Amino acid sequence: MTVSEADWWRSAAIYQVYLRSFADGNGDGVGDLSGVRSRLGHLAHLGVDALWFTPWYPSPMDDGGYDVADYRDIEPVFGTLAEAGHLIAEAHERGIRVLIDVVPNHCSDTHRWFRDALAAGPGSPERQRFWFRPGRGPDGDEPPNNWPSRFGGSAWTRVTEADGRPGEWYLHLYGAHQPDFNWDSTDVRTEFEDVLRFWFDRGVDGVRIDVADGLVKDPALPDTAPGDETPYSDQEALHDIYRSWRKIADSYPGGKILVGEMWLPDMTRVARHLRSDELHSAFTFDFLVCPWTAGRFREIVTRTLRSHEEVGAPAAWVLSNHDVTRHVTRYGRSGETGFSFADRRHGTPVDRLLGTRRARAAALLTLALPGVVYLYQGEELGLWEIEDLPDELRQDPVFTRTAGADPGRDGCRVPLPWSGSAPPFGFGTGTPWLPQPASWADLSAEAQADDPDSMLTLYRTGLRLRPGLGAAALTWLDFAPDILAFRREPEFTFILNFGAVPLPLPAHEELLLASAPLADGRLPSDTAVWLRG
Ligand code: GLC
Repeated sequence: MTVSEADWWRSAAIYQVYLRSFADGNGDGVGDLSGVRSRLGHLAHLGVDALWFTPWYPSPMDDGGYDVADYRDIEPVFGTLAEAGHLIAEAHERGIRVLIDVVPNHCSDTHRWFRDALAAGPGSPERQRFWFRPGRGPDGDEPPNNWPSRFGGSAWTRVTEADGRPGEWYLHLYGAHQPDFNWDSTDVRTEFEDVLRFWFDRGVDGVRIDVADGLVKDPALPDTAPGDETPYSDQEALHDIYRSWRKIADSYPGGKILVGEMWLPDMTRVARHLRSDELHSAFTFDFLVCPWTAGRFREIVTRTLRSHEEVGAPAAWVLSNHDVTRHVTRYGRSGETGFSFADRRHGTPVDRLLGTRRARAAALLTLALPGVVYLYQGEELGLWEIEDLPDELRQDPVFTRTAGADPGRDGCRVPLPWSGSAPPFGFGTGTPWLPQPASWADLSAEAQADDPDSMLTLYRTGLRLRPGLGAAALTWLDFAPDILAFRREPEFTFILNFGAVPLPLPAHEELLLASAPLADGRLPSDTAVWLRG
């Protein structure tokens, strides 16, 4: 199928670059823009259509850059604005589009607006841009309500006022260094519309919207019951915000795209944001957390496709990102392999061979489904979660805010292995900001490049063959309960065996791709194939 230029985003393969850990160009141990520029060849050869960069703005890095100090510049550790322009241009020359992360729910407490708000004091217009409230209790020393921070503890922190006394509290759904904006403020709305134009004018092709469901809060700030996110997630007024963003996106020749990060319990709620004048797409996290069974995958894929068809939006499949345990590890956990963001099952035994085998099959599944696919850097190398990082090196605020009960997300953010037989594996010349395991020697891009059986080769081949699949819907095929199989026109069949008994393959013209060798012409356990005919 040839994808019309304007519709590229309906079936694109988009690669997530976690900048700090992709490639280090200047030897300080932290990934940067020059590192990415030097590795664009890897991405072009891999065959992705676009890159999504996690936040690259100036930031104290309290939350890996999701604490933005200035939305119109580049973090000096990463490079400069001019260099970002070069990177965008070089990616475009290779036919690769560029998406960036926009973080509109909160900023860094070092952002000028938050500093101004602290200085201006209670009741000031500067404080209206955030959620400042007096505390409860006789001395105001209890938080204004019971909302929890998603990183642990309360979502409120008390400030010290100019006179040195304890004063108001401010809301932060994430870390205490990440004050939430008040989206009822016109200043905030205008500011972000302008930020979007700033980057679109510089050639960025779209944005991934961080915490896209969370911007609007019920202004009454009511207490909630545990697990009830109703007053601060998926409020109706969000639709107006994204309609105004869509107008801006559509005003550019060829259009720009808006992708939402929405961890909502119900897929139909997500799809309501994908109507034709709202967001273009949103990640299917139900797919990411799906337990390893044919039945559950079929159910989730069916539900996702149906809810997206109703609004005319493509589904966006994803197996991993910078917030979750890498899927080689997830799929290699013993017992039920379901996963939730809240329960990482850290420390449960992992069978890496099994996890890798399943990850290969899952890659073929993801690449065969209709819609958009997101890849997280390193999954094309088959990297696993690093679970034994020394505590003193952990940087994720989740680790400290839960007093270590949750190890946090550093284990999926370890710098990539590019080449050589020992750390830093060509990541750069300096010591990587998180240590790489010696056991990654076999997983470097260089070690896998010419190996026909490597994960990298599987991804390259899958991405090369995939565009021919087109956008047409799929038809399920019924074999046995442990078999997930579907057909897509013209003449494409996908089969994944989740069971233990090898499956004789149905008649076909050509075996296009297999995630593992067949056994006497049969499809073994945890193996997927692409067939023509
Ligand atoms: C999103 C990001 C995550 C970040 C959080 C707060 O979930 O993906 O990395 O910590 O938002 O910005």
